[in-house]
Amino acid sequence: AELYSCCENTNPNAGISEKMFGHPTCGIYGYSHLTGGFAGGQAEYARVVLADANALKIESDLTDEQVLFLSDILPTGYMGADMCDIKDGDTVAVWGAGPVGQFAMDSARVLGAEKVIAIDKETYRLDMAAAQGYTTINFENTDVRSALLELTGGRGPDKCIDAVGLEATHGASHVHLYDRAKQAVRSETDRPHVLRQAIMSCRSGGVVSVIGVYGGLIDKFPAGAWMNRSLTLRTGQCHVQKYMRPLLDMIEQGKIDPTRIITHRLPLTDAPTGYDLFKNKQDHCEKVVLTP
Ligand SMILES: NC(=O)c1ccc[n+]([C@@H]2O[C@H](COP(=O)([O-])OP(=O)(O)OC[C@H]3O[C@@H](n4cnc5c(N)ncnc54)[C@H](O)[C@@H]3O)[C@@H](O)[C@H]2O)c1
Repeated sequence: AELYSCCENTNPNAGISEKMFGHPTCGIYGYSHLTGGFAGGQAEYARVVLADANALKIESDLTDEQVLFLSDILPTGYMGADMCDIKDGDTVAVWGAGPVGQFAMDSARVLGAEKVIAIDKETYRLDMAAAQGYTTINFENTDVRSALLELTGGRGPDKCIDAVGLEATHGASHVHLYDRAKQAVRSETDRPHVLRQAIMSCRSGGVVSVIGVYGGLIDKFPAGAWMNRSLTLRTGQCHVQKYMRPLLDMIEQGKIDPTRIITHRLPLTDAPTGYDLFKNKQDHCEKVVLTP
């Protein structure tokens, strides 16, 4: 079924994830003990298990930087758009203009979206999106839902992609205070701000596609809006292996240029600096490439 991230056989800690999620999840590199406790690939050498399925041999003369993101974030952004079932002429709104969001925007365009709208508060990230011809909304100084309705003749975007997940920044509102109180007593683990806003903004009959990661429990999920307005909610850890080959073809054909998001190149020994720049959005950091 090509649901690689639902694999039932690659997570040696399946019991832990089963307790948390009801069923076991797959093993993932560098993604905590919940998904197997496998070390990530940010080392001089990495052992690739089940290499016939998990490694892609690059036979053309593409550079490492052109193909590097095929291992995670490019397929993730693409899956976000793919799950939207985009039709020619669709308007697609993407929350989050980080690396994953930028790739979701590029993928939405490749898949036929007429208008792509980027939502974030980091102006340099919005500028990167604008440079590709996408419309931008700064959520710090704009009411996002109203702006989206205005851009779509009052209906809302046909498709909405959450490329932010549980670390979303909240706006100031009474719901924010409610969330803070619940989080303080550990009875709400994730920040559902973007998910709620995407559901409330999406046009009736549209699709909300979630590739930002959620890990636990959220409150005030707008089930009524979801049900009564026939919204489709789709999500998943990326089924990377499904998308690697077709995306490699798109890179070769020049349809997608993954290198456009690289802002910093550092040696592996400077990895802590790279993480710091990325996490704190310093020096207009969008994506750091580490060279072993
Ligand atoms: N599903 C998968 O398989 C998969 C794979 C890789 C990454 N991810 C997830 O994708 C998400 C994005 O990854 P990234 O590397 O681009 O992260 P990132 O932190 O660089 O980008 C997130 C962006 O969201 C913005 N943001 C925060 N609150 C917002 C709000 N309320 N509205 C709009 N934008 C808001 C931030 O300013 C930031 O620019 C993360 O949750 C990451 O874990 C998922």
